Amino acid sequence: MQFKVIFFPLLSSYTREGIFSFIFELKKDDFMIEDIIKITKEAGELIRNAFGKTHSIEFKTNELNLVTETDKASEKLITDFVKKKYPSHGILAEEGSESNKSAEYLWVIDPLDGTTNFAHGLPIFAVSIGVQKNDETIAGVVYDVIRDIVYSAEKNNGSFENGRRISVSKNGNLGHSMLVTGFPYDIRENPDKAFERFIEFLKHARAIRRLGSAAIDFCYVANGVFDGFWEVSLHPWDICAGKLIVEEAGGLVTDFNENKIDIYSKRILVTNGIVHQKMIDVMKSI
Ligand code: IPD
Ligand code: CA
Ligand code: CA
Repeated sequence: MQFKVIFFPLLSSYTREGIFSFIFELKKDDFMIEDIIKITKEAGELIRNAFGKTHSIEFKTNELNLVTETDKASEKLITDFVKKKYPSHGILAEEGSESNKSAEYLWVIDPLDGTTNFAHGLPIFAVSIGVQKNDETIAGVVYDVIRDIVYSAEKNNGSFENGRRISVSKNGNLGHSMLVTGFPYDIRENPDKAFERFIEFLKHARAIRRLGSAAIDFCYVANGVFDGFWEVSLHPWDICAGKLIVEEAGGLVTDFNENKIDIYSKRILVTNGIVHQKMIDVMKSI
């Protein structure tokens, strides 16, 4: 919970109802993080119960890009909750739920991040929910379903792993770094130098991993496991919660030219801040 300095200008000019709604307005964002954690864990439980069973798998844009009935069930659970509890809020979710996108608050939802892992029985996947207020992310939660770990952050209030504060690594030596990346589903048609970047970082870093869940990649930068993460062709639901969790843990998120990004950006570089320029230099050398 974040402490706020509250000025009460001329209390006599407010009605009693006005004062209550003013205080409620100030407090309501604080209630939201508990709700995001609650619904993220409920969706995670649904996914955990379905893990290892047979799934109906459909292709989305191509045969690399999968969706299962569990992605859809998780999305329905989350969006039903938002519609009931926060009817004025907007929704942007991966499997097609969209409503009221210009509302003051927007819930950006990846109901199952790591669908390919899930469908193949690899236990690395997450639920990711970020909430924006007037286009700025104010809260983010990623739930690592199998390890039962909640990563959470509120704007200006730090990042947490199951309630314990986390921070990015302090390593500034790229040669001692462990990095992570992911590959876009359209890599065969639009490789966008993904192979070249991977090869170049292999020459500069200690190790590179590919976990298959961008949300978890972000969180492992936030807690200092990885020193850096890069990827192209991500989507708002991949970025929204994770970006805030990394930034609140002291990390840096930009594009490959060190420009600020928003959740609609396509190229992301996520680091502890110290190896950032070194990773950009490697990218520019390609
Ligand atoms: C994918 C995963 C993967 C990343 C892809 C994402 P999905 O999300 O995060 O790690 O490389 O770019 O689309 O489809 O499993 O929700
Ligand atoms: Ca995703
Ligand atoms: Ca997904």
